[in-house]
Amino acid sequence: MTIDALRHSPEQLRARIAAELERARNRSTGLTDAVDGDDLVRQHSPLMSPLVWDYAHIGSQEELWLVRDVGGREPVRPDIDNIYDAFQTKRADRPSLPMLNPDEARVYVSTVRDKALDVLEHTPLEGRRLVEAGFAFGMIVQHEQQHVETMLATHQLRQGPAVLDAPAPPPGAPAAETEVYVPGGMFLMGTDLDPWALDNERPAHAVGVEPYWIDTDPVTNAQYAQFIADGGYADRRWWTPEGWAHRSNAELTAPQFWHDDGTRTRFGHVEPIPPDEPVQHVCWYEADAYARWAGKRLPTEAEWEMAARYDPESGRSLRYPWGDEDPTDEHANLGGRYLQPAPVGAFPKGTSPLGVRGLVGDVWEWTSSDFTPYPGFAMFPYPEYSEVFFGPDYKILRGGSWAADPAAVRATFRNWDYPIRRQIFSGFRCARDV
Ligand SMILES: [Fe+2]
Repeated sequence: MTIDALRHSPEQLRARIAAELERARNRSTGLTDAVDGDDLVRQHSPLMSPLVWDYAHIGSQEELWLVRDVGGREPVRPDIDNIYDAFQTKRADRPSLPMLNPDEARVYVSTVRDKALDVLEHTPLEGRRLVEAGFAFGMIVQHEQQHVETMLATHQLRQGPAVLDAPAPPPGAPAAETEVYVPGGMFLMGTDLDPWALDNERPAHAVGVEPYWIDTDPVTNAQYAQFIADGGYADRRWWTPEGWAHRSNAELTAPQFWHDDGTRTRFGHVEPIPPDEPVQHVCWYEADAYARWAGKRLPTEAEWEMAARYDPESGRSLRYPWGDEDPTDEHANLGGRYLQPAPVGAFPKGTSPLGVRGLVGDVWEWTSSDFTPYPGFAMFPYPEYSEVFFGPDYKILRGGSWAADPAAVRATFRNWDYPIRRQIFSGFRCARDV
């Protein structure tokens, strides 16, 4: 949602919101309709919810925020609030919940959607912070798109014949230089302007950064394979004590879904590992160990954001590496178009002013930073969005993956996860001191 949307008429803003809601629903429905009822209620991994839980949970959040809170309407299904409260039941335990069955879930989410659209039509999108510039609707759009990405991770973990297909991504192009020099200095991190930015992206604040080098592209499968071939997984020198302990306990030897014969499994297809694609399905410990082996380190979150947003000509921080306009198909690999990362250099229009490529889309990029609030952080609209996660347990990921939707990614957007997680579409790039 561009800042320009604020200047549009209420009718245009409403039409844009309705279109975003519909786009999100097309994706979530596509992922649930792709499998049969048994597959929808089954738990494909203890790390994930059954797909039908995600689907009804999307409706439940929409009911809570748009129908009840924004709209002030009667509850649709108050009896199921607890079942779909993500904080009440861990993912591993969700199969034992008395969930709606697939048919009931479909009726429920479409009933809620009809009411939400009616609320959209009849609510002034101003006068109350929750609805200003359509914020609550934007939050729900992003929530559904985030669950679409989660559901894609579930699909990737699912056993059985392939049910998802996509065209091949566009070809890549090698970078002229493998690293970009960033002279450092002050830049504006975070945002006050983006109407749909979430609480943890706010407020905008000046940050000083020392000069550094950052990789032009994310680390590729071919580069990562060299780390493996060099015995990187067996050499304690490259790992932190916690990383080494996890590597040993979890018996990590390669990215998740890789096989010894140079193939990988992707949504049920076994295929050769594309050498020039950013590596994905690595945990933070693996990324950190690779960086040390390469004589580098992971970038801090501020270094990542400066590389992505800072325009040395104007001194301004952009919304995206390419400027302030919303992503198009030419800027970045987003929205699940190819169901995989594209080879590095496939989106030259997405290059940042400093010359860094592939920052948005393809893979979430691990940074060295913990998930902490920005100075002046103010929780909004509820503590469970970000505040309860602040602290050293989570590492920040930036930039969005190929599975993330344009509505749910900005160069200020912050994602976080445990350093052991790798069922997510996570990769990384390296940085180093000057
Ligand atoms: Fe959720």
